[in-house]
Amino acid sequence: MASLDTLFEAARAIQAKAYAPYSRFKVGAAIATADGRIFAGCNVENAAYPVGSCAEAGAIAAMVAGGASRIAEIVVMGEGEHLVTPCGGCRQRIREFAAPETPIHVAGPEGIRKSFTLDELLPFSFGPDNLSDR
Ligand code: THU
Repeated sequence: MASLDTLFEAARAIQAKAYAPYSRFKVGAAIATADGRIFAGCNVENAAYPVGSCAEAGAIAAMVAGGASRIAEIVVMGEGEHLVTPCGGCRQRIREFAAPETPIHVAGPEGIRKSFTLDELLPFSFGPDNLSDR
């Protein structure tokens, strides 16, 4: 698997490409898959505000387009002093392709600030199993 340093650098590089002229808040996300690949995404805003998409959504779309479907770990890099944890919708997006213990690392420009598991950020979650075991 890719090292956490490599994943952090991928998140930093893609964050710089974010299209965020409205919020001026750039976010980058980088996913590592178990086979050592990295897929990255940035937020892409829109003049019709609700149509914009989050960095995590872009990274997940790239992963699926690349033929992968499991997140081994993910780094999310935001701006400012606060922890930029994935938004509620993105927690659910990550949940589709991750395990309860999958690490979600929240970073700032200086490095990883805090690491969570998916289960910590989205406990008692709804997922594919709910639909398959009926
Ligand atoms: N944003 C993300 O890309 N990921 C998150 O988890 C939190 C928020 C983006 C959406 C919007 O473009 C900007 O940050 C401000 O909310």
